[in-house]
Amino acid sequence: MTQTFEKQPETGGRYEPLGAGELLDHDDNSLRLRAGSTTVEVTALAPDLFRVGMFPAGGPPRYDSEAIDREDWDPIEVSMKESDEELTLSTTAATAQISLNPVRIGFSDAAGREFAVDDRELGMGAVETTDADIFSEPLGSPVRLYKRREAGERYFGCGERTSGLEKTGSHQVFYNVDPPLGHTASFNNLYSSIPFSLSLANGKAHGLFFDNTHRVEFDLALASEDRAYYGAEGGAIVYYVFCGPTPADVVDRYTELTGRTPMPPLWSLGNQQCRYSYMNEEEVREVASGFRERDIPCDVIYLDIHYMDGYRVFTWNEDRFPDPQGLISDLGEQGFRVVTIVDPGVKVDENYSVYTDGREKDLYCKTREGEEYHNAVWPGVCAFPDFTNPETREWWGQNQKVFTDAGVSGIWCDMNEPALFIPDGATMPDDVIHPGGRAGEARWHAQIHNTYGSLMARAAREGLLALHPDERPFVITRAGYAGLQRHAMQWTGDNSSWWEHLWMSMPQLQNLALSGVAWAGVDIGGFGGDTNGELLARWYEFGVFQPYCRNHTTLGTRHQEPWVFGEPYESVCREMIKLRQRLLPYLYTLFEKCHRSGAPILRPLLFEYPEDETTYTADDEFLLGEALLVAPITRPGVEHRHVYLPEGTWFHYYSGERFDGPAHILAHAPLGEPALYVKANTAIPMGPEASYTGERPTDPLTLLVHPAEGTEESTLYEDAGNGFGYREGEYARRRISCESSEARITIHLGEREGSFVPEREEVRLQLRGVVEAKSVLVDGGEREPGLGESGALTVSLGEEAGSTTVEVLL
Ligand code: GLC
Repeated sequence: MTQTFEKQPETGGRYEPLGAGELLDHDDNSLRLRAGSTTVEVTALAPDLFRVGMFPAGGPPRYDSEAIDREDWDPIEVSMKESDEELTLSTTAATAQISLNPVRIGFSDAAGREFAVDDRELGMGAVETTDADIFSEPLGSPVRLYKRREAGERYFGCGERTSGLEKTGSHQVFYNVDPPLGHTASFNNLYSSIPFSLSLANGKAHGLFFDNTHRVEFDLALASEDRAYYGAEGGAIVYYVFCGPTPADVVDRYTELTGRTPMPPLWSLGNQQCRYSYMNEEEVREVASGFRERDIPCDVIYLDIHYMDGYRVFTWNEDRFPDPQGLISDLGEQGFRVVTIVDPGVKVDENYSVYTDGREKDLYCKTREGEEYHNAVWPGVCAFPDFTNPETREWWGQNQKVFTDAGVSGIWCDMNEPALFIPDGATMPDDVIHPGGRAGEARWHAQIHNTYGSLMARAAREGLLALHPDERPFVITRAGYAGLQRHAMQWTGDNSSWWEHLWMSMPQLQNLALSGVAWAGVDIGGFGGDTNGELLARWYEFGVFQPYCRNHTTLGTRHQEPWVFGEPYESVCREMIKLRQRLLPYLYTLFEKCHRSGAPILRPLLFEYPEDETTYTADDEFLLGEALLVAPITRPGVEHRHVYLPEGTWFHYYSGERFDGPAHILAHAPLGEPALYVKANTAIPMGPEASYTGERPTDPLTLLVHPAEGTEESTLYEDAGNGFGYREGEYARRRISCESSEARITIHLGEREGSFVPEREEVRLQLRGVVEAKSVLVDGGEREPGLGESGALTVSLGEEAGSTTVEVLL
């Protein structure tokens, strides 16, 4: 059975790189070569996006892996040049150069920057094995792609890695597993696999996505510091090159190709609470009241596996939850949503209609002998849906009706690597068959392993959409492949209540964000083991800035709801969660930007400051959007830490102190006042306090600005927070600019774009650090300012929906 641990790519049979090739044919944007027994196709999909495929000669190219969302690209201007030695395919932005003897492919942009150039000696090819020809089943032969490392090239991305931001000099395995509890930063493959690397060289970025759903390995200048290796155990070589030149350009195109994060329902950005498990209805009610009585905002409570009847998916345990509908409706009245866990294993049980129905419809995975494949998970012996089959996905999705009928708002897909119990810690053997439902579609598990989680999440999302077409689905997944972001948000599985895991969360979420999975979060407080008050409070100081904010812990551990450790921890947790609640307009604006461009919500500093190499290793701090920089404390008993502030002016959120970057500073961050910095002149939109999302309108809306000489522009995006009206223009987007000098601060709120009218009576401008002004003019008319919270000058703008200019003369 294929297992989790590293194998060296250089072992095995004899590797044969491609030899000489010749042009077979070409069309408007692509060309095909014959090289030995393979066909190589190079296609320009967009001015800054190329695709390369290497297939057996005569075999049809296939580019339809589960990762790919966009296949129909707009026609672009492409020119081709041909000589005896070389072919080129050029767009307006970049060129693919293909040398013919031997066949080697490289890329360059209009400025002459070269990137993703095949290693001259090793290029791309396959490993010759004695017992199988290069594309034979089940696995075919290993395939490899060697790229030259450019001068100064450094590697990032690679999905859910906990070990830091930079991947230069590392070996990366892409194979979904459920690691044993207590994984450390040395485990490089965890639950999801995204074989995508983002490189920076001299401040310029490019990306490479190696789209192969077998077990994949990268060697990023470890075996040789002059090259990188991208390889798979089998299948074809299909890879995409993103030309950049900024990380934002790369991630934008990458998420255009693999799919964008959908607009979330607004409630799913609120605070969430989970435990394995809240055992029965009484306990759930008690937890819900706990939040309301203690004035701690919360939107969602999760039901983990004990709500089921003997862990049978799509059932309710009638002793523990006799009236799910009544419970969920009561919770709804208090402003809570309920999300239920769903595992892929279906208990083999003749008296369980979900199982027998799936068997009658022939929707399960098979052994080589054609029997149902069985293994054990929570309910005992289970069959496993073949999610590669569209019919299975539809059936699975429809089964969710048992939840939506009871009022459940979201689906939590777990154990979908898939994780199996025999032997302990296993996943499916390579030779399990996914029949696929149609002739010719059957695949070995080894061929699609990394996609099983994505396909399950896809079934959940499509099912929710079919059941409630007017609601934005909320799906959470543990496993997945590149592109999973279009089906679900990802939580990062079973971390531990360790300070080390709090630290690891930061690179982990930043690496995911650079790899297209912007909507992600780790379990606050830690899942395995007992947490304590200080760790929990510090974890919230980090956790409320995650795109997804959920506290979760395992069976038998100490409770870790935000109040259980008493003071001072309870107050810290409360204040942090309240801050998140108030920041929702800012967060939601970031989600909408991400939905359109893939721009991460929680992002590494290097995303914004790629020219500044100090940011490349700044993995224990991060940006939330462009305007907030968060540097959490991740050690016990510590109140100070080093923070790197990149170029620009930054203000400490709590003290208001000003810092001019780039600068290394020692931040004082006593419990309850995390090192949080706001970029000068950016407007942070903040709502009022609320105990859950939607409790009241965003009224007043405060625009918090920290002026300092210079100019910045920011945006505020709002819509109904659910449904799809935004697609028809029912949204409100406003640009907000702030220009500050010694004598004057000018804030301009642009005209509202879109037809959505937020329900509110007051927009309030708060200028931090401005204690007096000679006069304040709103659209030329004098306005009396107030001295509001924290010594800020406050200007009340009333409804001010149209274009408005505020001038503050100092
Ligand atoms: C897995 C999940 C965890 C869940 C548990 C029980 O370990 O990662 O979050 O609580 O299963 O369902």
